[in-house]
Amino acid sequence: MRNKVTIVGAGNVGATAALWLASKELADVVLLDVIEGVPQGKALDILQAMPIEKHDCAIFGTNDYADSANSDVVVITAGIARKPGMSRDDLLNTNGRIMADVIANVVATSPDAILVVVSNPLDAMAQAAFRHSGFPRERVIGMAGVLDSARFRSFIAEECDVSVENVSAFVLGGHGDTMVPLPRYSTVGGIPITELLSAEAVERLVQRTRNGGAEIVAHLKTGSAFYAPGAAAIEMVEAILKDRKKILPCAVYLQGEYGIRDLFVGVPCKLGARGLEKIIEIKLTPEEHTALQRSANSVRELCAVLGI
Ligand code: NAI
Ligand code: 2OP
Repeated sequence: MRNKVTIVGAGNVGATAALWLASKELADVVLLDVIEGVPQGKALDILQAMPIEKHDCAIFGTNDYADSANSDVVVITAGIARKPGMSRDDLLNTNGRIMADVIANVVATSPDAILVVVSNPLDAMAQAAFRHSGFPRERVIGMAGVLDSARFRSFIAEECDVSVENVSAFVLGGHGDTMVPLPRYSTVGGIPITELLSAEAVERLVQRTRNGGAEIVAHLKTGSAFYAPGAAAIEMVEAILKDRKKILPCAVYLQGEYGIRDLFVGVPCKLGARGLEKIIEIKLTPEEHTALQRSANSVRELCAVLGI
C-alpha cells in the first residue's frame, strides 16, 4: 500500500511541496485548503504531469478533511506569508488561529500522523501544533533548519566554487533573525569553512543566511520563498517515509537538551519512521551556546503571547 501524505495549505509552499512529493513518487498526496477550487485545480495540474514523469502517485485536491483521513504524514503550510516590511513574527496571531483550526481537524481525521509544520513564525507554530494536538513530541516536527542550512550551503558552494554536494552545514536555533549558523560544523569536503575562508567571508555568508528569507521577500514583494521551503519539507517527509534515520536540523520540543526546556527550537535530529528518533547534542562554544539561548528566548516570547 502506498503512503498517504496530506499537505494543508495549497498556496505557494504547499503546492510546491506537493509537486516535490509527487516528482519523487513518495506517496499519494492530498492537497487541502479552505479556498474552494484552488487545491482541486492545483492537484489536477500536478496529476497531469505524472504521465510525463512516469509516476503513479494519486494527487487529490479538496476542502474536506475527510479526504485526508489516516494520512501517514501531514505537512502544515496553512497561513499567511510575509510581505515586504513584515517579519515572520508579524504573522503570529493570525497563523496561531489558523493552526488551532487545522490541528483540530487533523487530530480528528489522522490521529496517528506525523506532523511537519512549516507555517510561520515556525517555532511558535510548531509549539502550537504540539500543544493543540496532544501528540507526543516525536510526531510534531518543525521545518526551518533544513531550509536555513540549504541556504547556507548554497552560499558556501558559490563562494568556494565547488559542488553543493561537497558542502554540509548546520543552522540551529529559531527560524528568525536570531538563528545560529554554525561555521565550525559547516564543511567543504569535510574541511570546516573556518579553515578555508577568511573570517570576513564567513561572517558575510552567515549574515546572508540569516537574511535569506527577507532577501527573497524583497525581490518578490508579494510573498515569500517557496521552492526551497517546499523541497526542505519534503526532504523531511522522505526521511520519515523511508525510515532513512537522517540527521537534519529540525525544530523539536526540547526537554532539557541544550539546557532548554518545554520549547521548540532548531537542533540536529535523527528522522525516521517514528518521526523524531533522536536529538543529537553537539558541543557548543560558550558564544554558540549564548546565541542559541538568545534565539530560544525569542521563541519563548512568541509562545507567551499565544499562551502556549
Ligand atoms: P500562501 O499564502 O501562498 O499559502 C497559504 C495557504 O494557506 C493559502 O492558500 C490559504 O488559503 C491557506 N489557508 C489559510 N487558512 C487556512 C486554513 N485554516 N486551513 C487550510 N488552509 C488555509 O503562503 P505560502 O507562501 O505558501 O506560505 C505558507 C506559510 O509557510 C506562511 O506562514 C509562511 O510564512 C510559511 N513559510 C515557512 C517557511 C519555513 O522555513 N518554515 C518557509 C516559507 C514559508
Ligand atoms: C523564509 O525563510 C519566509 O520563513 C520563510 O523564506
